[in-house]
Amino acid sequence: MSKATIGIVGLGVMGRNLAFQLAAKGHGVAVTDPWPAAVRDFRAAILPLGEGIAVHDTLGDLIEGLARPRAVLIMIKAGAPVQQQIDALVPLLGPDDLILDGGNSHYSDTVRRGVALGDHGLRYLGIGISGGEEGARTGASIMAGGSREGYAQVEGLLNDIAAKVDGVSCAAYLGDGGAGHFVKAVHNGIEYAEMQLIAEAYLILKDLLALNHEAMAAVFAQWNQGALRSYLIEITARILATKDSESEAPLVEMILDKAGQKGTGRWAAEAALDLGVPAPSLAEAVSARSLSALKDQRIAAEAVLPAPERSALLVKEELAPEQLGEALLAARICIFAQGFALMKAAKEAYGWSLDLAQVARIWRAGCIIRAGLLEVIDQAYREAPDLDNLLLAPGFRHTFERTQRAWRRTVGTAVGYGLPVPALGSALAYFDTYRRARLPANLIQAQRDYFGAHGFERTDQTGTFHGHWQDEPEDPQP
Ligand code: 6PG
Repeated sequence: MSKATIGIVGLGVMGRNLAFQLAAKGHGVAVTDPWPAAVRDFRAAILPLGEGIAVHDTLGDLIEGLARPRAVLIMIKAGAPVQQQIDALVPLLGPDDLILDGGNSHYSDTVRRGVALGDHGLRYLGIGISGGEEGARTGASIMAGGSREGYAQVEGLLNDIAAKVDGVSCAAYLGDGGAGHFVKAVHNGIEYAEMQLIAEAYLILKDLLALNHEAMAAVFAQWNQGALRSYLIEITARILATKDSESEAPLVEMILDKAGQKGTGRWAAEAALDLGVPAPSLAEAVSARSLSALKDQRIAAEAVLPAPERSALLVKEELAPEQLGEALLAARICIFAQGFALMKAAKEAYGWSLDLAQVARIWRAGCIIRAGLLEVIDQAYREAPDLDNLLLAPGFRHTFERTQRAWRRTVGTAVGYGLPVPALGSALAYFDTYRRARLPANLIQAQRDYFGAHGFERTDQTGTFHGHWQDEPEDPQP
């Protein structure tokens, strides 16, 4: 049997489906898994679907079965398991061989591993792969970072397994070190915020506008035909239309309202804090999941904390699904603006070649946050690659003019009726803060100087100044 072009370590859902896709596209693929049972299962049940895939019991056999220079894609759980596989691979590989990590690794781990493997004469790529099982099987969005030579070695192969838009591949080399995994973390931060926004829209439609699930599904399906078109809106329409086979109730209502998270969305929020980039909606989405997980506390709190008065009938006159749709669009722009501002800051801080228009292009298909809006973002960065913030893109100005009234009404009404809308609300606060030439931060500077002599700049002179602040009034003498 001829030698394979790529080896895959890890036969979970993603590794297995990538192997099938690669094999279907004519690439010689060799696979193994650190768990012997996974290799056995793959051989027994799954292999008939993946003709042309060589299955090996050990890493050593896998490496023997690869053409040189060798390329090994690790598709296992991020963290210590990835490191273990890398440590096991190093003695088996030689100069110019390439290791690719296709899991959701933290970008700082990727930077560190790239340096360490470079010392061994090996090439390393950290690649964010988005799109879940379907993406792995039919075309994913692939965000690569690390060795440029390594990327050149597998570029054709990655393009083959990437989703396409008008024939253009959604795979790209984004920069050295951890650029690929950083962009994937930002993708996931936006994913969390988008999901939170949609969850808030569902809450408003259900609790304030009293729509049934059929009607809600219709609203989402209609939104998906217009400016709001996106994968997450599309699947939400289908989710809302799905009935539980046991109870016949809408399946979504049978699901416990505690959101899980594996950490990638949090990494984006943490990176924003570390780099001093405002990304409040990304952070709010992480907190919203954490708050949802406090189910027992929420149950106890509902019984004791006061709620505002509600009247669904009254609200119907105040708010309609069309206005909510406008609010979602404006908030979505703010969320993408936060994510792209974060990538711009990281590009500058880490010296990555990161092309923001290219990121928008590879997110247009295959990934979870694919949306019509990315066409406009691509154009905005093509016209102005150094744009400070997407909110300033000329293409969005008219959208904000049109949507802001409905956005404010949506947030105001939800807040008035006590519905939590952290994503819609924080996006609006971001917009309102960013568009103001003067903020109340002068008072914060004054307070800092008052209690800590931290100094402040003046509006009328250059330099650092201190105030002669009024003292605490003395107690009157008895
Ligand atoms: C993707 C997704 C994927 C992620 C899941 C679950 O782009 O395909 O981002 O990588 O693992 O969405 O993430 P959470 O468990 O953190 O919600």
